Amino acid sequence: MKTVFPGGRIGVLGGGQLGWMLALEARRMGYGVGVLDPVAGCPAAKGADFFLQAPLDDVEAALRLSAQVDVVTLENEFVPAALLARLEGTVPVRPSAAVLRTVQDRLLQKEFLKAAGFPQAPFAAVDDPRRLGEAVRAVDFPAVLKSRRGGYDGKGQVLVTEPGALESAWRAIGGRLAVLETLVPFRKEIAVILARSVPGEMRAYPVAENVHVRHILHTTRVPARVSERTRREAERMACGIAEQLGHVGVMAVEMFVLGDESVLVNEIAPRTHNSGHYTFGACVTSQFEQHLRAVCGLPLGDPALLSPAVMVNLLGDLWLEGPPRWETVLSRPNARLYLYGKEGAGVGRKMGHVLVVDADTDRALREAEEIAARLGASGASAPAGRPAGGGGADGRWARC
Ligand SMILES: Nc1ncnc2c1ncn2[C@@H]1O[C@H](COP(=O)(O)OP(=O)(O)OP(=O)(O)O)[C@@H](O)[C@H]1O
Ligand SMILES: [Mg+2]
Repeated sequence: MKTVFPGGRIGVLGGGQLGWMLALEARRMGYGVGVLDPVAGCPAAKGADFFLQAPLDDVEAALRLSAQVDVVTLENEFVPAALLARLEGTVPVRPSAAVLRTVQDRLLQKEFLKAAGFPQAPFAAVDDPRRLGEAVRAVDFPAVLKSRRGGYDGKGQVLVTEPGALESAWRAIGGRLAVLETLVPFRKEIAVILARSVPGEMRAYPVAENVHVRHILHTTRVPARVSERTRREAERMACGIAEQLGHVGVMAVEMFVLGDESVLVNEIAPRTHNSGHYTFGACVTSQFEQHLRAVCGLPLGDPALLSPAVMVNLLGDLWLEGPPRWETVLSRPNARLYLYGKEGAGVGRKMGHVLVVDADTDRALREAEEIAARLGASGASAPAGRPAGGGGADGRWARC
């Protein structure tokens, strides 16, 4: 195994905010960075040494990238596995095409988890209008119908309240290949961010507690308020998943905690993750440095928490009535501002985040919510926080 040391170059497929923060950390550590993305003004392009503008399925462009770097990695799971397989002949690709093939298709991901014995909500494939009855028998209702590929922030998902509504729900998501899964009455959502190195060393970050609003991550609180048993179980499952997949790099495993403290896997992301933003500012080693260490063949850094913290996402909604009131964040010594430099602030678009560092996470959460509420020029355009818990059919999804 050839280690890539500072001075070497990292190729990143995808140019969103995760790629931008990866590039920041890479450059801090003395690496060069090349980014490929379809959008010229994407966040990561601003942090890169060189940029290739091309779709993520453009094999020729990806080969041009791989020819100029020592290792190729990715910042989202929408890069076709077949393209990664082509690059694997030219340069180390981490994570591998095989990992992406399993994870980027919700059905294959769930089948992998099932075969490996990790608990999750009952699910069934929805791929043929004549076989909807089989899917209906496999799950309990209400259920969620999710397209197999390409979804994020709840896109391509619809709530199915009863069996008779499945057909119209499927039409609502365009009749695409999909997965139907039981709606989980979770008490809370957590995520484990971990890294696995080339020789298989694994380090997990402290378990994070997430609150989503309209399917988009709103806040992350660390450490999560879960029992020691739940924490250990969540970590055991996440590490087991990374090990069995043969993953290299950072990975996030989103989970549901039920009323009896048992844990179900929601989904796997084979990359750095929004729920791991707290690591960049609140941990010894950020998830971005950790990912670089892993894909460069280096030993992993220390994931220890320097201080409890709360992260709040800043959505484009805050820009609707003019530029946000930055003094709201910058007047507070324990709040760190991260802005991704995106052009155009649409509703629901992730524009940045704030990390509030405080030994008391209740206080940090109150402060984070206050910042998000006051940043909007009107002082009231932040999404209303949802009370923790309850994956219930409460109108947050389009219904069928
Ligand atoms: N089966 C389920 N039961 C209860 N809630 C669910 C279920 N599936 C999804 N959700 C809710 O919707 C959120 C988004 O769902 P999911 O993680 O599947 O979507 P996604 O579009 O892949 O999101 P992202 O990639 O942004 O995390 C979850 O974090 C959870 O709050
Ligand atoms: Mg998710």
